[in-house]
Amino acid sequence: MPTEQIKQQIANTFGNASKSYDESARLQRYSGELLLSNLPNNNDSVVLDLGCGTGYFANVLATKFNTVIGLDLSKEMLNYSKLNRNKNINWLNADMHNIPLADNSVDIVFSNLAIQWCNPLTDAFIEIKRILKPDGVLIFSSLLDGTLNELKQSWLSVDNDDHVIDFNELIDIKHSLQISGLSITKLEKTPVVLDYDNVRHLAKELKNLGASKVPKRSRKGLSGKNSWKKMTQAYDGYLTEQGVYPATYQLCTGMVMNTHE
Ligand SMILES: C[S@@+](CC[C@H](N)C(=O)[O-])C[C@H]1O[C@@H](n2cnc3c(N)ncnc32)[C@H](O)[C@@H]1O
Repeated sequence: MPTEQIKQQIANTFGNASKSYDESARLQRYSGELLLSNLPNNNDSVVLDLGCGTGYFANVLATKFNTVIGLDLSKEMLNYSKLNRNKNINWLNADMHNIPLADNSVDIVFSNLAIQWCNPLTDAFIEIKRILKPDGVLIFSSLLDGTLNELKQSWLSVDNDDHVIDFNELIDIKHSLQISGLSITKLEKTPVVLDYDNVRHLAKELKNLGASKVPKRSRKGLSGKNSWKKMTQAYDGYLTEQGVYPATYQLCTGMVMNTHE
């Protein structure tokens, strides 16, 4: 599928989830809070929330910094943000591969669980470096290979279709950052396991978040009832003694700087 079409599909899927997103964003809240605890505290900073979604964290950032910009690919996400968040935030409907901001204009780029949707990732980092001021900082989180492994393995017992998006390895992110010329201060991988009542609960959460569709998936539409049954039977193998269904997320958190050459 051509890149622009994939981006349109990503924007549409997140847009459709704009009203259900916040109630299901458990992992996103957790990782965003981690990022917040690493922020420099200069009130005068110009801060960009890249892939801001419903604007929850842009809103938190607006309590700490004078100038906050929320950027997202999805118009519907931004419409939701405009209605529900601090009126001083500036909203930009744009692609993070092509950010409509001047060179050297941003002090802090905050990006929570958005760059995993970017391809090629290196181009997004090059664009971030362009807009960052010298000594500006990028604080981000993403998801790495091994995320939703239980679901991926359970689907593999049914077919070879792509049911879970491909996530980067930590080394891919490191290489992309190095190519972009940004300097890594911190880059970590941490597994986070969330509990679900059943597999339907997991599927509903992913759908509510706009994260249930795989852009390059070869087959369209819902999987048949039999495939779903077979997959959930395979997932039963992960049921814990406490009676919950775990789903593992491999969380990547990073802090990088636009250091002087
Ligand atoms: C999982 S949501 C995270 C939203 C928010 N950062 C949060 O913490 O809740 C990912 C967001 O990234 C946006 N996104 C995906 N690809 C993008 C791109 N190329 N440029 C800008 N935003 C993008 C999506 O539209 C979506 O709103």
